[in-house]
Order: sequence, then structure tokens, then C-alpha cells
Amino acid sequence: MQRIQELDGRYIASTYRRQPLAFVKGRGMFVEDIQGKRYLDFVGGIAVCSLGHCHPALVKAISAQAKKLMHTSNLYYIQQQAELAALLARVVPKSINKFFFCNSGTEAIEGAFKLAIKHAKRQRIIAMQGSFHGRTAASVGATWKSSYREPFGALIPKIFDFVPFNDLAAVERTMGEQTAAVIVEAIQGESGINVPSKDYLPGLRKLCDEHGVLLICDEVQTGMGRTGKWFACEHWSVEPDELTMAKALGGGFPIGCLGARAEVMESFSPGNHASTFGGNPLACAAAKAVIKTMQNLKLPQRATKIGGYFKNRLNELANKHGCVREVRGLGLMLAMELSTKQIADAAVVKARERGFLINCTADKVLRFVPPLIVERKHVDRLIEALDAIFVEVEK
Ligand SMILES: Cc1ncc(COP(=O)(O)O)c(C=O)c1O
Repeated sequence: MQRIQELDGRYIASTYRRQPLAFVKGRGMFVEDIQGKRYLDFVGGIAVCSLGHCHPALVKAISAQAKKLMHTSNLYYIQQQAELAALLARVVPKSINKFFFCNSGTEAIEGAFKLAIKHAKRQRIIAMQGSFHGRTAASVGATWKSSYREPFGALIPKIFDFVPFNDLAAVERTMGEQTAAVIVEAIQGESGINVPSKDYLPGLRKLCDEHGVLLICDEVQTGMGRTGKWFACEHWSVEPDELTMAKALGGGFPIGCLGARAEVMESFSPGNHASTFGGNPLACAAAKAVIKTMQNLKLPQRATKIGGYFKNRLNELANKHGCVREVRGLGLMLAMELSTKQIADAAVVKARERGFLINCTADKVLRFVPPLIVERKHVDRLIEALDAIFVEVEK
């Protein structure tokens, strides 16, 4: 461990604040660190490892494809990419029927903005306060936290109009002749699992229709069954014009995707956008296996069922412990807001010592985005540990 930390300190960019852990293997809900200690994983690589770690179907698909062909180029037709798109078309909202593959969430967002501006022939985008869309120039420009944007001044396009999340009147006031699109996370992730009121997404859809503006749903974190539907916008029966995906799409293998209405995607012509690795055979074989396995195991339905149980159990803790402010979320995208950052940070450390990985976001919000294969017994173990931890921190 000491050697890894030394090498990391010497050679790795200092962009991450790391916990003192290095994992060497994983299976299902568990990961094992370099010292052989096992952890129950309620982070899942931040909403990525939805099938759990090293699911046999995913391992098999990646290994088989790696032996056959890993990469060619988008200069040629790619069988796995075409087949993945056909599979995806069956699980995304009906409005979305064409896809562009890339390698990460932020890239999907960059593509979404380019497409919106080209299609609408307008230059501005409305984004939400509290949003997180990624770290490259345009997606960080649409990200609310000023500390992520401000050091990079001239690099960040000044085309974003921020409005409060969950405020339709503010969107209506801000829409102008130059508004090409509105971008929204159906449930805000990084800013603490904020679920909008039930008229919000339908209201956004209506406003966009009235003003000829595109609606972009960023489902990088909420997508792929996480909230109990394949995509969170389905909870409100909203069909976006553009949909961004990444994280759980490859189950741990890097892949991102921009989906759009066919007539919108057709605004891109050859040369407008590209990615060397985007949608290569290996990544697409992984994503195909993820979708098929999720269908076989009915994981979105599972997320609703076990997520409901998990939320009830978190609420039991909220009723018992004064340090818990609120429990919120949908499916297996759950949050427990605590009274202070110190308590939240201590809870993460104490959970780790007891063999649980949990994540803290937005200073004092414990975020639970475990693999969708999580079982009641795992939830019970975590609740028991959190119960004891809250007794300790409240002393
Ligand atoms: C909603 C949302 N959009 C975009 C991103 C960026 O994805 P990536 O880190 O793969 O670039 C994230 C990452 O957390 C996210 O949560």
C-alpha cells in the first residue's frame, strides 16, 4: 500500500482526493483491498458497476471480444456498435432512436451541446443551479459549482444561463430567441440526489415545445435502471430530444453515448463530430452484455423493490438519530442528508473501518448508489453499521 501511495504521489496528477485504499479484486457486491480486507460496496464505482463486480456475463463478453477484435475505427462499419444501438433503441424512451458512441459522460454532453446548437441554429443553453455535467470545457461550463469553472476562464464557453432547479417560471423567463436547449438531470446526482416535484419535467417538456427548444436529459448517473426505470425521465413520462448516457452503460468498461431523436441527430453530417475510440467493438460488446444481463435479471424492477426497502430502512435511522436531516431518492439512487459535514466525513471513515464503502457528496449527503444486484441482507448489514456509527458520532 505504501508503495502505491508513493508512486501515486510521485507520478499521478493531484486531481483526486483519495481514501487510503487500493482494491485488487471484486465479486458481486464485494471488493477486496490489497491487504485482503473485504468491503461491501455501496458506491459501485459511483453508479457504474450496476451488475456488481466482475459479473460472469460481462467478463465473458469482454474476454470473447478481446480475443476476436478490440478496435478498428469508425472509418468502417462496426457490427457490435450497430447491434448495441439496436438493443439500446428498445430500452430508451421512444423519442430517442439514433445514437453516437463515445467514451465518457462528459463527452456525451459535449456532443449533446454541439448537436443542439447545430440543429437549432441558436447559441445559448439553459442549465440548472446545482447541476453536474462533467469536466471538459462545455460540460463544466454547464456545471453549477463555480470553483469547477472559474480557474479555467477563457476556456469555458459563456453560453449558459443558469436557473434554479425545480423552478419552471425561471426557465420560462430565461428562454429567449437564442435558446437552443435546456439541459437537466432528471434527478440531480452530485449536488445531493435532488428529486424534482412531479410537474417539473413535464413542465420543462411543455416549455421547450412551446419555444422550439430542445430538451436534453443528462442520464449519465440516473440512467440504466438506477432509479427503477431504464431512464429516470420515464418516471414523469417525459421524452427528451437528446439523452446522455455513460457510467453503468458499460458496467465498468468505459463507454458513453448520446442518443437523440432521429430528425435531431440528422443535423450532424460526416465530419461534424467523431471519436477515435467511440463505440469500438470491445466497449460495445461490454455494453451489449450489460443490457442483456439487466434485462435477464430485471434489474430496473429490482432497483424499485430493493430501493424501496432500503429507503424505508434509512428512514428508520432518520427517525432514531438526530444527526439525520432527510432521506430522499428513487430506486437505488438514495441519499441521507446529515446535519454537518464533519459527521458525514466521520461516517464515511467509520463505515470503511467496519468494511463498508459509502460515498459523501455535496459536503454532508451520504449517497448510496450500489450495484443493482444488492440484496436485503446487504442493506440490513449496512443499516446496522450506520446505526452504531450514528450512536458513536452523536456522543
Ligand atoms: C449527471 C452527470 N453527467 C455527466 C457526468 C460526467 O461523466 P464522466 O465522469 O464519465 O465524464 C457525471 C459524472 O458524475 C454525472 O453524474
